[in-house]
Amino acid sequence: MLILGIETSCDETAASVVKDGIEILSSVVSSSLKYHKKFGGVIPEIAARHHVENIDKAIGRCLYNAGLKINDVDAVAVTQGPGLVGALLPGISCAKALSYALGVPLIAVDHLKAHIYSALMRKDAPDFPFIGLIISGGHTRLCLVEDFDSFTTLGDTLDDAIGEAYDKAAKIMGLGYPGGPIIDRLAKKGDAKAIKFTCRPIKGSLDFSFSGIKTAVLYYVKGQGTRDKGQEADIAASFQEAALKVIVGNTIKALEKHDLKTLVIGGGVSANSRFREMIAREAMFRGLKVYFPPLELCSDNAAMVAGLAYHLHKKGMLALLDMTANIGSVK
Ligand code: KG4
Ligand code: ZN
Repeated sequence: MLILGIETSCDETAASVVKDGIEILSSVVSSSLKYHKKFGGVIPEIAARHHVENIDKAIGRCLYNAGLKINDVDAVAVTQGPGLVGALLPGISCAKALSYALGVPLIAVDHLKAHIYSALMRKDAPDFPFIGLIISGGHTRLCLVEDFDSFTTLGDTLDDAIGEAYDKAAKIMGLGYPGGPIIDRLAKKGDAKAIKFTCRPIKGSLDFSFSGIKTAVLYYVKGQGTRDKGQEADIAASFQEAALKVIVGNTIKALEKHDLKTLVIGGGVSANSRFREMIAREAMFRGLKVYFPPLELCSDNAAMVAGLAYHLHKKGMLALLDMTANIGSVK
């Protein structure tokens, strides 16, 4: 079964054709990142405009790369939410129009579940249940995952998501946008013990809070005046270590609480090299099975949307043409 996936929840205009939920025939991602850079964050109106202007080009290129015609598609899947409403709508409108014109089913996909699915697009994917960890620009969420559409939230972002904290810390340090990959690279040259940035887990809960450490970085940087490059690397490494430690800690607690040994991770921050090291270490000590997406599927893409849609379609979970954007999680 060939599913055309469409993803426009944030600043990536993406289209992909996936066969039987696993084989990516083509995946096109057109980002409006360069237009947001000077603002240090995504401007929703600019992202929405980019989607309107580029979605049909992305789909055209995607089909061309796969050697397919639009009539070859058996179903159309689209991200329904969470995301920026103005960004979600162009993708949804396009998916509805295609589904109606082609007479094929429409499938609405939750962006966060799709991020987890990006780590499952492999022949040796784990069985349910497992603990899912979504670490992205908009979310830091731990879930008990019992099926493709059955996610129970165990812990969530109370303020800034981890990716947002990376982006804001980088902005405070004048490093550019998006901050995650920049801090990831810079931290390799720094000493993670150089500065004491505190980021504590929340007592009796698996929720996350990163606004405190962001403010700590702000005060530290303000207090420093001019800094040399070495100090920047130390700040990056110290911030990253403290923030990631809380995520690793809560994740281990979630696994223990539910007596599970399988962990599936997705979202932009899952590309982080230090995080992968920290998790690999825990996995070795505790005998965990950990599944990360390949690097090209960590950030927003449509392959994860088309892939997850295959399983939703199998369960008969089809959307109607009156479906619309949902800025929160899709139940
Ligand atoms: O999943 P994603 O593409 O979009 C959302 O659904 O939010 O995640 C984007 C986030 C950004 O905040 C970006 O800074 C972060 O992922 N990110 C990283 C890395 N690569 C991207 N954060 C830390 N280390 C990285 N290597
Ligand atoms: Zn995302």
